[in-house]
Amino acid sequence: MSINALTAEVREQVDTFLQKQLSRHSINEPLTRAMEHGVLLGGKRVRPYLLMTIADICHGDKHAALAAAAAIELIHAYSLIHDDLPAMDNDDLRRGQPTCHIAFDEATAILAGDALQTLAFELLSESPLGGLNADRQLSMVNALARASGSAGMCAGQAIDLQATDQHVNETELEHMHKHKTGALIEAAATIGVLCGEEKAQKWQPHFKTFAAHLGLAFQVQDDILDVIGNTELLGKPQGSDTAANKSTYVQLLGVDGAQQYLNSLHEKALLSLADIPYNTAKLEQFSDVLLKRDH
Ligand code: IPE
Ligand code: IPE
Ligand code: MG
Ligand code: MG
Ligand code: MG
Repeated sequence: MSINALTAEVREQVDTFLQKQLSRHSINEPLTRAMEHGVLLGGKRVRPYLLMTIADICHGDKHAALAAAAAIELIHAYSLIHDDLPAMDNDDLRRGQPTCHIAFDEATAILAGDALQTLAFELLSESPLGGLNADRQLSMVNALARASGSAGMCAGQAIDLQATDQHVNETELEHMHKHKTGALIEAAATIGVLCGEEKAQKWQPHFKTFAAHLGLAFQVQDDILDVIGNTELLGKPQGSDTAANKSTYVQLLGVDGAQQYLNSLHEKALLSLADIPYNTAKLEQFSDVLLKRDH
């Protein structure tokens, strides 16, 4: 099964929800169109799928899980718009479309990213959020903020830019990948559990460890696909990392070495599910499909 087939139902739910929210908030048409361009045109919906699946496994609140899944996808979409800007990776293709700053202009793309980010926190702090109590909701807002900012994704992106044209060792590369990509994937798991029933909360560290291995492995596969993938399937330019002399796992270990490392992370991810007393079969399937993806 392909990753897009696996996440199809979640995509439909999240996109319908987001479309509604975006039109509700529209007072400036180019800005709203740039936001829609960034968040609604394609994408695998990996983070929403992980969040909603974990919430479901933990007998969670479905309404809260959907709003939180939309929020995390908004943060991700904003990070991609900014990641593609000339000042960052300077890419012109994303999700099979011209990148936001090409389809619109740089200033609009920056603002669209900013507004997607704040919309994420607006949706997550909506009161009430399903049947969730306020403490849980506050923990969700906190988890998303920490994962996104200067101790999470933004830190990873800063390290990524500094590591360009440099040689970094494996420890430094792992640090960078865990932040730029792992942090948000870990937050998806943490927030998924926070949507869940009370007795699920004590398994939070196990889900977090699972997501940490999965998130790192996910970025290793992204590095591999930059070398062996296909632009049309990827919906983003194959070879972009090589052209920009980025520090990646393939650059450090070669394709085979990166693949072996990915396999070891995959195994660790599955092992960390072993003790959880809920049915985690869907997460095993997700890991398998996600880490063997071709786009
Ligand atoms: C791309 O993320 C950037 C990374 C963090 C690897 P995805 O591969 O999840 O991108 P979309 O959402 O499917 O476009
Ligand atoms: C991006 O990593 C991670 C983000 C926080 C957006 P990449 O720069 O490798 O992502 P792609 O390959 O452009 O999707
Ligand atoms: Mg980048
Ligand atoms: Mg990039
Ligand atoms: Mg990449």
